[in-house]
Amino acid sequence: MKQREYGKSARHQLKAPIYNTLVKYIQENRLRLHMPGHAGGRGMPKVFQDMASYDFTELPELDNFHLPRSIIKRAAKLLAETAGAQKSFFLINGATSGIQAFFLSLRNMQGKVLLPRNAHQAFFSGLVLSGAEPVYIPAQTDEDTGVAWGVNRQDIAEALEKHADLEAVFLVSPNYYGTCLNVRSIARMTENHDAVPLIIDEAHGGHFVFHPQYPEPALQQGADAVVQGLHKTWPVFNQGACLHTGRLYKRDKQLGQAVGLVSSSSPSYPLLASMDYARAFLSENGEGLLEQALKSSQCYKEKINRLPGFKLVQEEWEKHEEITGTDPLKILIKMENLSLDGFQVGRILREEFKIEVELQSVNVILAMMSMFHESQEWQKLYEALEKISLRYLGARKRIRVPAPPMPKQVVNPRSAWLHTKTLVDLRNSRGCVAGELIAAYPPGIPCMVPGELINEEIIEYLLWLRANCLQVHKAGGESGGKIWVLDGAI
Ligand SMILES: Cc1ncc(COP(=O)(O)O)c(C=O)c1O
Repeated sequence: MKQREYGKSARHQLKAPIYNTLVKYIQENRLRLHMPGHAGGRGMPKVFQDMASYDFTELPELDNFHLPRSIIKRAAKLLAETAGAQKSFFLINGATSGIQAFFLSLRNMQGKVLLPRNAHQAFFSGLVLSGAEPVYIPAQTDEDTGVAWGVNRQDIAEALEKHADLEAVFLVSPNYYGTCLNVRSIARMTENHDAVPLIIDEAHGGHFVFHPQYPEPALQQGADAVVQGLHKTWPVFNQGACLHTGRLYKRDKQLGQAVGLVSSSSPSYPLLASMDYARAFLSENGEGLLEQALKSSQCYKEKINRLPGFKLVQEEWEKHEEITGTDPLKILIKMENLSLDGFQVGRILREEFKIEVELQSVNVILAMMSMFHESQEWQKLYEALEKISLRYLGARKRIRVPAPPMPKQVVNPRSAWLHTKTLVDLRNSRGCVAGELIAAYPPGIPCMVPGELINEEIIEYLLWLRANCLQVHKAGGESGGKIWVLDGAI
């Protein structure tokens, strides 16, 4: 099988310095007179104890996350080699902390950054922490499902033309639904634009590097740096993530310092070891597992698409010239001619078939498969959908999901965050400036960011979200139909 150069599994890639050192350390059975307080799992339920035995602090032989010199340094080097990166950094607070670190390592932290309007809320924490000024590129939204599939290159080109003083261009590829942008051609655009760094949120694409028929990783397409949420697609504990920088990235040092700023001083060794082990494991087994998963995906996507009442969405999106591919493991299914909506399908899958999907929404569900799901598990999903299709085929009043509006930013997000605020009734908030972040969950894409002008359109949209059962997460906490707005800006 053809293998990409960068994912190649050289013999030394099978080593896992952090994991192997911990195993050796445990075998020596030293008396633990150090943190954490469970001293190797005491006072914990039995199921936690195995993992707790790996839960060390930064002892002399276990290196230091904030100043890596031995095993963490070696493991990061192996990680970089796997990804074809110049340098890699482990993250212990999720991809979110990597995105924050990029913002905190900008040359001019308060300068302008280009952002897609459908960026994850982690970007907005980056804006608040850094004080950067966002320049938004509108998200392109599928009319039928209301899902944002990506951004247009033309919009990027126009924004680059208009803003000569950008500090960075941030984009998301693949998005939460697995859809990938043409990073190669965007990289050419940023390269020609004073080489402004192109930073890709590749939170959902960490596995691409291990198989040539999965979408091409962003770094190989010319991105300057990427963030990957390894816990999303690798066999890694939640919050395990990493950053990779490319050959031409000039701010590795500042990025490393910024990672330190947003990371705990008590890094989880089980988490670090799980990333280290997973990299070695996938170097050896990733291609085979992904090959099997790809075959299952091809087979079952076709079968699901033939079921009356269901239609795969990504296949339609691939007609957009902006989209260069889709992660075969993200199965986004639209209800079409089914008397149920996505919430109802999700509930039946959960309650009757004991299948829990990643997302259920008005007209869609998203099943997130992994390289570890076996064909009988794909079959289980298929059979459940087949039963639902037979039982509930029939017309339903179609609900058109409105595209999220793009409110005007009138106050910088950080200034808005720091401003004093008042809680007002959402219906009476027209003309006020938002003081909090509001996002529909999942996947956590904000529709209102601190500093944005509240108009009738956004009020209608937020009321629509509430009325249609979408979970609305507010940074200011639950406040019963009210919204925090900036004082004095009413
Ligand atoms: C596209 C995208 N970027 C970033 C994040 C943040 O990742 P994490 O949960 O690892 O902090 C997510 C989380 O779902 C995401 O979907």
